[in-house]
Amino acid sequence: MKSYVKTEAKFADEQLKCLAPAPHTMLNCLRRLSAAAALLYILPSVAGQEVCNQIQAAVSSASAVYFPLDLLGNFAADISHWASSSTQQSACSVEPGSAADVSIIIQLLGSTQTPFAVKGGGHTANPGFSSTTGVQISMTRFSGVTYDESSGTAVIGSGLVWDDVYEALAPFNVNVIGGRVSGVGVGGFTLGGGYSWKTNQFGLTIDRVSAFELVTPNGTIVSVTDSSSPDLFFGLKGGLNNFGIVTEFTLETVPQGLVWGGLITYTEAVLPAVATAIEQFASTVTDPKAAIIPAVNFLLGAPGVSHIMFYDGPTPPAGIFDDFLAIPFLTADISTRSFLSLVQAAPSNATSGSRGAFHTVSLLNYSATMINAILNETNFWGAELALAGATFISYDIEPFLPTIYTHNPLPTAFPPDRGPGYMPLNLYYAWSDTAFDATFHSALQQSAAHLTAVAEADGQAIANAPLYTNYALYDTPLERIYGDNLPRLQAIKAAVDPDNVMGLAGGFKF
Ligand SMILES: Cc1cc2nc3c(=O)[nH]c(=O)nc-3n(C[C@H](O)[C@H](O)[C@H](O)COP(=O)(O)OP(=O)(O)OC[C@H]3O[C@@H](n4cnc5c(N)ncnc54)[C@H](O)[C@@H]3O)c2cc1C
Ligand SMILES: *[C@@H]1O[C@H](CO)[C@@H](O)[C@H](O)[C@H]1NC(C)=O
Ligand SMILES: *[C@@H]1O[C@H](CO)[C@@H](O)[C@H](O)[C@H]1NC(C)=O
Ligand SMILES: *[C@@H]1O[C@H](CO)[C@@H](O)[C@H](O)[C@H]1NC(C)=O
Ligand SMILES: *[C@@H]1O[C@H](CO)[C@@H](O)[C@H](O)[C@H]1NC(C)=O
Repeated sequence: MKSYVKTEAKFADEQLKCLAPAPHTMLNCLRRLSAAAALLYILPSVAGQEVCNQIQAAVSSASAVYFPLDLLGNFAADISHWASSSTQQSACSVEPGSAADVSIIIQLLGSTQTPFAVKGGGHTANPGFSSTTGVQISMTRFSGVTYDESSGTAVIGSGLVWDDVYEALAPFNVNVIGGRVSGVGVGGFTLGGGYSWKTNQFGLTIDRVSAFELVTPNGTIVSVTDSSSPDLFFGLKGGLNNFGIVTEFTLETVPQGLVWGGLITYTEAVLPAVATAIEQFASTVTDPKAAIIPAVNFLLGAPGVSHIMFYDGPTPPAGIFDDFLAIPFLTADISTRSFLSLVQAAPSNATSGSRGAFHTVSLLNYSATMINAILNETNFWGAELALAGATFISYDIEPFLPTIYTHNPLPTAFPPDRGPGYMPLNLYYAWSDTAFDATFHSALQQSAAHLTAVAEADGQAIANAPLYTNYALYDTPLERIYGDNLPRLQAIKAAVDPDNVMGLAGGFKF
């Protein structure tokens, strides 16, 4: 692995040198580049090739194995992630097409102790959580959506992105509790928790899961429900990839008609008015059908706000969004539309392909003090990190009702504490140069620590509040995410995975 990392660095280095070569060095440059590329493809193959071949020979025709030199692009699509810093060059990629093949694959990986990764939508911002230099499993062939009107549930494949789920359910005028913007995967989103536009009304995505089809680390295919396996049912609701590979989720559906909202953007000049409108919304709006995500950001040298509004009905009652609509905006795309259209109105793909990282602070109150501190962080780190080539700095304010955790009487792995209705603030930085990865990770930690101190001084007891699995930076201590649930989760993990097969895949590990 070490020599592979070195080769990867050399390849990147040669690529940089070849970006704008002087004419007389062009040939040399290309020669060195192709030598580095050849090594790059040979090295991981040596490490993982044997297992890849075994998998290829063992799986059914429903599945496929792809290698790095795949000219049709299947391999590239399988290892690709929303944040390029979450992508690694794998020995091969595998697209299982049935639970039985997942079972064969996981047994081969376990018995050969081969590092692997499981990718749903590839949207984790944590490096190595769904990528590997070993065997990349892409769940993309688990793409079914089956709605059962009599039970009011939908069985959905773990390889889908939410856009496709919404599109498939729309003809039935029903919906599930899923992602808020385009492109996000069902798999990681659901196994980590899931904050949705409809969370004020129905809770987190995990609160509406009634069954999982799971391939356990020893290759057994089980249907996990509260009555069949209460421990795994609890653990999978926030426990990510610790207990095996999920192939399908059964989700409760809820009615869905037209919605109102979309994206509105503001420039620096009106930030004080926007800050006041956010504070007003957060402190006064109690209609569970209303939700907003004002993303305070720093782009091209100036602060601004990219603001998404949502109302679960064709027209919002007067008063809820009036303040935002009265502020002079830069752009506005607000209308009565389908749920999918609203989800696709957010520019969530704009920074895809950049390096990126998330971190989070759990808040109880978006007071004026807190909002101003967030604005200040945006400016401070926007200017500071411009020196490290930041392309985007963003703080996504997510005001929810204090009752969001009351929609499920059963305990779940996350959140460990269903008392206070903590609201996750999402910090997101994007940049382009590998050399600055550590700078951005450290800045995220400093900024989160600063905002935690501001919130504490503001009277919010959040210093030990659980941090959201799907926003927390990769080195967040497990106790900060799972709190008092951690010992139970570790016991469940030890029982289902005594050989620690899932330890071969990255992520927050019990
Ligand atoms: C643009 C953007 C918008 C977002 N919006 C929201 C939001 O509104 N609300 C919210 O709560 N979160 C949001 N997130 C965070 C999101 O929940 C995480 O990024 C999540 O990891 C996405 O799931 P994925 O399947 O795309 O991720 P992946 O990177 O594919 O997987 C993430 C983790 O889950 C594991 N995993 C995935 N599928 C399986 C499976 N089938 N079996 C076992 N393990 C599996 C992986 O191994 C990995 O550890 C957003 C992220 C981005 C980048
Ligand atoms: C964003 O990218 C994803 C692929 O990751 C794609 O499925 C989705 O349709 C894109 N969304 C928009 C609005 O273009
Ligand atoms: C939020 O903070 C403000 C001022 O700091 C305070 O007046 C208000 O009561 C707080 N709200 C909640 C729900 O704690
Ligand atoms: C602004 O943010 C920086 C970085 O966190 C901090 O050092 C500074 O004290 C903040 N200033 C104000 C006025 O809050
Ligand atoms: C495999 O794991 C399942 C689920 O934990 C368990 O019930 C079964 O006994 C295990 N099988 C073997 C052969 O260890």
